[in-house]
Amino acid sequence: MEQQPPSATDRTPVPGTSTRLDSYVERYAARTAGMTASEIRALFAVASRPEVVSLAGGMPNISGLPLDVVGGAIHDLVRTHGAVAMQYGSGQGDPALREQICDVMRLEGIEAHPDDVVVTVGSQQAVDLVTRIFCDPGDVVICEAPSYVGALGVFRAYECDVVHAAMDEHGLVPDALREAITSVRASGRTIKFLYTIPNYHNPAGVSMAAERRPEILEICREADILVLEDNPYGLLGFDDVPYRALRADEAEGVIYLGSFSKTFAPGFRVGWALAPHAVREKLVLAQESATLCPPSFSQMAVSSYLSNHDWMGQVKEFREMYRERRDTMIDSLQDLMPAATRWNVPDGGFYVWLTLPDGLDAKAMLPRAVTARVAYVPGTAFFSDGFGAQSMRLSYCYPTPERIREGVRRLVGVIEEEMELRETFGAAGPATLRRGYESPNTDLT
Ligand SMILES: Cc1ncc(COP(=O)(O)O)c(C=O)c1O
Repeated sequence: MEQQPPSATDRTPVPGTSTRLDSYVERYAARTAGMTASEIRALFAVASRPEVVSLAGGMPNISGLPLDVVGGAIHDLVRTHGAVAMQYGSGQGDPALREQICDVMRLEGIEAHPDDVVVTVGSQQAVDLVTRIFCDPGDVVICEAPSYVGALGVFRAYECDVVHAAMDEHGLVPDALREAITSVRASGRTIKFLYTIPNYHNPAGVSMAAERRPEILEICREADILVLEDNPYGLLGFDDVPYRALRADEAEGVIYLGSFSKTFAPGFRVGWALAPHAVREKLVLAQESATLCPPSFSQMAVSSYLSNHDWMGQVKEFREMYRERRDTMIDSLQDLMPAATRWNVPDGGFYVWLTLPDGLDAKAMLPRAVTARVAYVPGTAFFSDGFGAQSMRLSYCYPTPERIREGVRRLVGVIEEEMELRETFGAAGPATLRRGYESPNTDLT
């Protein structure tokens, strides 16, 4: 039978006949309009070529993991508990692992009961489940400016409005949070929660100062706003003592998210949410409808790693490795970057936030940077409102120190060329460049 192209009334796609890129486009739910590939995703294909120094991706560097130990533990797990490990499990997560998670959180001052923990498929799924149970379309989530691109994607997918509040070198600015709350409420909209990454922020690289934490909690308590504390990097600080979690001082108003992706390995996809009891029940229902249960095998592998290996010793090694790379990046920036470029010095985690000299646009510059064989993530990826064009996120977690230095050298070449072009052809700055938030950078120049 001859194939006919779909008519306006019958849009059943006929393979090979559609002239559209996506012949299903009119059938998708409205919420998919917000589901676009992130700037990071689009970059991965190019940035992963070996000749490009990628300062873009935030992949944890797990080359130091003792694979023989992990392999042995997994072998034992299959031999001794295989029938359970490969079976469905509890929607809330493995009870033994939930107890161990409470021990992990104690390192940040949190006293919690395993009943209040829900294991998730990475903390990414926890962001999704929390948004799913709290947010209707049009509800507002307050986020730092800038914020984690993966969370912004979730908020967009649930059709939330993201309102950013400024950060400085000490993290979220209390007055900016107050102003955001006041202006959202004046517009008649409902704020569902504050999403914050207090430690070693992705992408800003800053940490919320200890003195500021009680004030942020107090503002949210007074305004009756939940806090979603996302803390995957909390144990990756370069000082010995981790920051005290917000959740350590506020049990009812905070949902805390943790992850083994950066302290162990992201491939297991094990994270968790610690929530007030009633919220925990809703989260389990949401988890059951999403996945039935988090993967038993991954949970038991993580549990066995925690109990049979010096995992804190391994975290210490990771910290030292990241510290060395942070030092290399900061030294290279200091040695090579032109004046009027600003950046911060992170005290943990993976990222430096760099702001270009006035008039330069990191997004417009990216193709030229990739041609010069260096990649970064333009700041606009981390804002829901078009800001951030003058900034970029640089990751030092993955490349070797030599590659980091070479990457910065290439980046400097591109920036200097851009500055020359601007001088030659005048100062008509890129139309997309918008300012409005304080930069979280410490001015080092
Ligand atoms: C701030 C933040 N939250 C959540 C995640 C998700 O981590 P995972 O799902 O691997 O636990 C990441 C990953 O990079 C992150 O940077």
